[in-house]
Amino acid sequence: MTKLKWGMIGGGEGSQIGPAHRLGAQADGLFEFTAGALDHRADAGRAYAQTLGIAPDRAYGDWQEMLAGEKDRADRVDLVTVATPNATHFQITKAFLEAGFNVLCEKPMTMTVEEGEEIVRVAEKTGKICAVNYCYSAYPMVRQARAMVRAGELGKVRLVVTNFSHGHHGDATDADNPRVRWRYDPAMAGVSGQFADCGIHALHMAGFIADDEVQTLSADFASTISSRVLEDDAMVNFRMAGGTVGRLWTSSVAIGRQHGFDIQIFGETGGLRWASEQPNQLIYTPVGGRTQIIEKGEGGLHADAQRLSRVSIAHPEGFPLAVANIYCDLADAIRGELRDGLPNAADGVRSMAAVYAAVASAKEHGAWVDARPPMFR
Ligand code: NAI
Repeated sequence: MTKLKWGMIGGGEGSQIGPAHRLGAQADGLFEFTAGALDHRADAGRAYAQTLGIAPDRAYGDWQEMLAGEKDRADRVDLVTVATPNATHFQITKAFLEAGFNVLCEKPMTMTVEEGEEIVRVAEKTGKICAVNYCYSAYPMVRQARAMVRAGELGKVRLVVTNFSHGHHGDATDADNPRVRWRYDPAMAGVSGQFADCGIHALHMAGFIADDEVQTLSADFASTISSRVLEDDAMVNFRMAGGTVGRLWTSSVAIGRQHGFDIQIFGETGGLRWASEQPNQLIYTPVGGRTQIIEKGEGGLHADAQRLSRVSIAHPEGFPLAVANIYCDLADAIRGELRDGLPNAADGVRSMAAVYAAVASAKEHGAWVDARPPMFR
C-alpha cells in the first residue's frame, strides 16, 4: 500500500505538540512527511522542515504559501495537520478544507461557536474529513472502556467523574512568564483559560466513554492567582442527553498533580477508572465483585482496544502512540473506511459550545445553561 502524503502547519522546533504529531503520523508507516509550514518565522520553518527531510520546494514559509504550493500538485498532501496556536485554527482549517484537503486540527478547533459551526458546514459541503485531536480518546484502554459501555457491561451509565488538574501554573512568581501569561489573557486565549485548554479534553472523554452528549451544565470558575483575568480553576457539573450525570474539575494550580487527567464511569452494574498517567490499565469493579485490572494487550479485549494495542502486554505504551492511533484511524478514513471513534468537527464545536456555556454559567453564579451548539439543539 502506498503511503499517504502528510503536511503540517505549526509544530516547529521546540513546540510542545509538534513531536507527538511527527511520531504519531509516522509510527505505522502510513504517512510520509511531505510538506510543512512549521513556524511563525518563515526562515526558521523552512530550515527546520528540511532538517526533517522535507524537500526544499515543499518546506514553506507560511500556510498561505503551502496552500498555494500544494493545491494544484498531482501529488498534493492527503492530510494537513494544524498544530498552530488556537486563534489561527479556524482560518487555516477552513482554507484547507475548502481547497479539498483532509484536516486534523488541534484542539480547541476554533475560538467561537459560530466558527465551529462553520467548520462543520464546510466539512459537510466539501466531503472532506475534519478530525480534531482529542488524542486521549485513542488510548487502547479508553477504547476498551467505551466498548464495555456499548456492550452493556456496566449497565446504564449513571455518573461520570473526571479531572484534568495539574499544578504547572501554580507558582505565582511565574505568573508573568510570557509562556504562562497568555493563557489567562482574553486577548490571546479567548473567553476561557483552563477549561478551554484542558477541561474540554475531559468533557470530550466523558461523552466518548459514556456514549452520550453533554446537554446542560453549571460552572464555577475561579482565578486563584489574582493577576489572572481568565480562570485557572473550574468545577463544572453537567447532564447528558441520555441522563448521565457528570462532574468535572479542571485546574492548573493543583501543585503536586502532574498530568492529572483521570476519569471514573459508574454504571448500574459496575464501575471503571482510567488515568492518563497509567494509561495501560483499566480498573473495573463489577457490582458486588472484586476489583480487577484490565491490561492493554491482554486476551479478550474488545476489538477496538485490541486493534490499537501495538506492543505486547506489560510493555509500556504512551502519548505519541495514542496520537498514532488517531493517524491510523485517519488513514483508514481517508482510504474510505470510516472509523467510528475518530473525533471530528462536531466534537470540536460541541466543545466550543460547552466553553461558552461554562463562561455564561460562571457569570450567573452557576446557573444551569444549555451547553449544545445551536446547530445540534
Ligand atoms: P507552541 O507554542 O509550543 O508551538 C506552536 C508552534 O506553531 C511553534 O512552532 C510556532 O512557531 C508555530 N506557529 C505559530 N503560528 C504559526 C503560523 N501562523 N504558521 C505556522 N506555524 C506557526 O504550542 P503548542 O503547545 O505546541 O500548541 C499548539 C496547539 O496544540 C494548540 O492549539 C494547543 O491547544 C494544542 N495542544 C494540544 C494538545 C493535545 O493533547 N491534543 C497538547 C498540547 C497542545
